[in-house]
Amino acid sequence: MEKKNIKWGEIGFGYIPTDYRYYAEWKDGKWGEGKLTEDRTITMSECAGVLQYAQTCFEGLKAYTWKDGSIVTFRPDLNAERMQRSARRLLIPEVSTEMFLDALDQTVKANAAWVPPYGTGATLYIRPFLFGSGPVIGVAPAPEYQFRLFCTPVGPYFKGGIKPIKICVSDYDRAAPHGTGDIKAGLNYAMSLYPGDLAHKNGYAENMFLDAATRTNVEETGGANFLFVTKDGKLVTPKSSTILPSITRRSLVYVAQKYLGLTVEERVVPFAEVREFAEIGVCGTAAVISPVGEIDNHDEKIMVPSGTEKFGPVLGKLRETLTGIQNGDIEAPEGWIRKIL
Ligand code: PLP
Ligand code: COI
Repeated sequence: MEKKNIKWGEIGFGYIPTDYRYYAEWKDGKWGEGKLTEDRTITMSECAGVLQYAQTCFEGLKAYTWKDGSIVTFRPDLNAERMQRSARRLLIPEVSTEMFLDALDQTVKANAAWVPPYGTGATLYIRPFLFGSGPVIGVAPAPEYQFRLFCTPVGPYFKGGIKPIKICVSDYDRAAPHGTGDIKAGLNYAMSLYPGDLAHKNGYAENMFLDAATRTNVEETGGANFLFVTKDGKLVTPKSSTILPSITRRSLVYVAQKYLGLTVEERVVPFAEVREFAEIGVCGTAAVISPVGEIDNHDEKIMVPSGTEKFGPVLGKLRETLTGIQNGDIEAPEGWIRKIL
């Protein structure tokens, strides 16, 4: 199979539509059969639950081309499970893991020419999403839903590739205690646009959000979890019931312990401790691991000891090992890789 003629090394994180996408409809209490389509548009009621009351959740995962030409995805069963949790919280009918994986296999297979070749640094980003398509005007769950999945080839999430980013502490909160911070609801991202725009206008790549209840502990950014490395080489990552349980972070904790022999602490991280770390990074499907070089908290500038030019040694090694597993150069733990072609 011939890959598309794209300058893979030059693409950023944007929407490049591919040939096929998947959709299935939920009506009369059940999911209908899913199909692939070339139609990139959606027609629905002006009163759809998603349009009126933001009844929607989504996922994000990637497909990779290995050296031998095979195409794989990374731990998609965990995305299926997380989407089921998000759906339950938003009263959206769940998509079974079997249906989720079938949609994924069909869509990635049909778009195989769009999965960036091995060694280019680009990947195919897959976006499954679920939304209320039927009409509701009183605040209530929609009577009909759609499950869709499309994909788009992507490069690095942050401009400048993997150069350390500069972030700021936000004056806004991302998620309330007992709210929706731990699910991937569209509404969490809508409300982050304003603080995100403010950060960008002030020259920052992202916000660091603190916990809404006390504003003393580190939560996450708008689209990634935090990783910290102590001066004695331990990996520390925030534990909180109001952050998204990142699949990348959960995988890195395992890689750090089992592949690199590091000590890992998953615990509350007071903001005051941020000044003490040797390396700081953010992690997620889109971000992979991106190093953080500077954190500004109003007038205070925290310069991370690993500097503003390159990865620190521990996060650099973690990134290399994780991407090695995803690209097929390092053996993956049992069950982490789903071969599609
Ligand atoms: N946190 C937020 C708010 C996100 O949107 C994402 C992206 O999915 C992550 C963390 C990272 O999660 P994952 O590693 O599962 O992509
Ligand atoms: C992902 O990493 O998959 C995400 O969904 C982050 C998003 C903000 C692009």
